[in-house]
Amino acid sequence: MSKKDFVASIQEGYSHEWDHLILWKAKLDHEVVSEATISIPLKTLNRHGLIAGATGTWKTKSVQLLLEWLSNHWIPSLVMDIKWDLSWLAQPGDGENKHIISRHTSLDLPYDATWFPVELLSLSDQPWVRLRSTVSEFGPLLFSKMLWLNHTQESVMSVIFKYCDDRQLGLVDLDDMKTVLKFITEEGKEWFEDSYGFVAESSVGTIFRKIVALEQQGADIFFWEPSFEVFDLVRTWSDWKWVINILRLTDMQDRPALFSTFMLSLLAEVYDVFPEAGDLDKPKLAIVIDEAHLVFKEASSELLDQIETVVKLIRSKGIWIFFCTQLPDDIPAPVLSQLWLKIQHQLRWVTERDRKAIKLAVENYPISDYYKPEDLIMELWIGEAFVTCLNEKWVPTPLSHTYLRAPQSRMDILTQAEIDIAISSSLLIHKYKDDLDKESAHELLQKEIAEKVKADGKNADDQNNGSVSHLLNNKFVKGVASDFTNQIIRWALRKMWLKVHGSRSFVKF
Ligand SMILES: Nc1ncnc2c1ncn2[C@@H]1O[C@H](COP(=O)(O)OP(=O)(O)OP(=O)(O)O)[C@@H](O)[C@H]1O
Ligand SMILES: [Mg+2]
Repeated sequence: MSKKDFVASIQEGYSHEWDHLILWKAKLDHEVVSEATISIPLKTLNRHGLIAGATGTWKTKSVQLLLEWLSNHWIPSLVMDIKWDLSWLAQPGDGENKHIISRHTSLDLPYDATWFPVELLSLSDQPWVRLRSTVSEFGPLLFSKMLWLNHTQESVMSVIFKYCDDRQLGLVDLDDMKTVLKFITEEGKEWFEDSYGFVAESSVGTIFRKIVALEQQGADIFFWEPSFEVFDLVRTWSDWKWVINILRLTDMQDRPALFSTFMLSLLAEVYDVFPEAGDLDKPKLAIVIDEAHLVFKEASSELLDQIETVVKLIRSKGIWIFFCTQLPDDIPAPVLSQLWLKIQHQLRWVTERDRKAIKLAVENYPISDYYKPEDLIMELWIGEAFVTCLNEKWVPTPLSHTYLRAPQSRMDILTQAEIDIAISSSLLIHKYKDDLDKESAHELLQKEIAEKVKADGKNADDQNNGSVSHLLNNKFVKGVASDFTNQIIRWALRKMWLKVHGSRSFVKF
């Protein structure tokens, strides 16, 4: 097969009638072929995508580039930034950088450095837009999944939500839920059981302990008001660029269960509020999940089923989801089979799992007359990738060994002064800045208990369930305290082991 045939096959495979993103040029025999432009039609983006590759192979740069081009094409985006290496989009790239100049000379494309409008979001207490939710908005099912409740405990949770709904007890934060749990097993037990049936104290106790454990993971900060409205993700900065929403999740690396539940709640909310749209000319919103293995790492099989379902359904709302991870098999097979845009950076064969991942990646490519992907996948340079997507007739495009353009924005960290500028130009910060502390289940039940105690002529102080001493003495909490102590002991033992044996040895306590 000649170079001429190659160019003809790429040009035919990647000719699109509608708007498209030009991110790469194809390579043949390790040479850039400047006539062989590789592009993705915007129309088929809602069939979702995957970026995979070994560490340091430019996966996050691929994400950066995609976000830039989406913004340029009036598509708003939300990216889960686990390593905090995407905020860089807020500043222009370095047009004098010799690597960038040489890359763009080989591509025969101009390089225009520019910045992009970003909105910085946070799940915890950074001084930018806080992304929060209420327990009520999570609903009984998702809240139970987050706590890993079994079926019996899950049904108790459904009854509790119904009870709160009937009595108009707002469930905003975790304190609300804890107060309700205590109330229905103590002061309100009789009335609750008359109306809603018997609930085993052991089930309520387990739920209570799991909530306290969740608080210890820092989830209490997430459940608060005002809750975030997902339509706020869809905003234009000016009529030439759309906002890239960057959610900083650096503190989620060691809390994968919380991360996966948060992801599902966000996707479910987006699915819920966006209207049915069918196949559009371009997505309404792109959601990019960097380090996506964290979503699936500790998710229960039921949570995985739910994520799979939402990923499948959300495309009809015009939402594009893009997963970025090291090995393709980090993504469960049912989700992987729904990802049609594939950007595969270099994979390295170090372990048996790597060998299987390479095999899996290669098996999912269209057959190529020009490449031997099973060999080439290990020889790709930094900033190169295998690419295939769907064309406008929904047919996979030819597999292409590509060379990536450089991001137009910076490839280096922001200074504090630059972060401050991004914060001060935020369009949303004022909307979500102040905490709302409305009267919810916790306050309402406290009031009810106090009134009852007064009526019974007892000493209200002795009965005050909200006090710290009462909480520490609470029968439900004792188990958590010992679980937590065990965790600390395990952590300390592991630290000692690493000190003695070095970081390469692995031991699980
Ligand atoms: N200013 C720069 N210009 C070009 N390349 C750079 C620049 N800064 C870093 N790099 C290269 O980019 C690579 C890191 O890219 P990136 O963060 O996109 O990788 P990654 O695949 O996302 O890695 P990880 O899996 O660790 O997140 C480094 O190997 C480095 O060689
Ligand atoms: Mg990365």
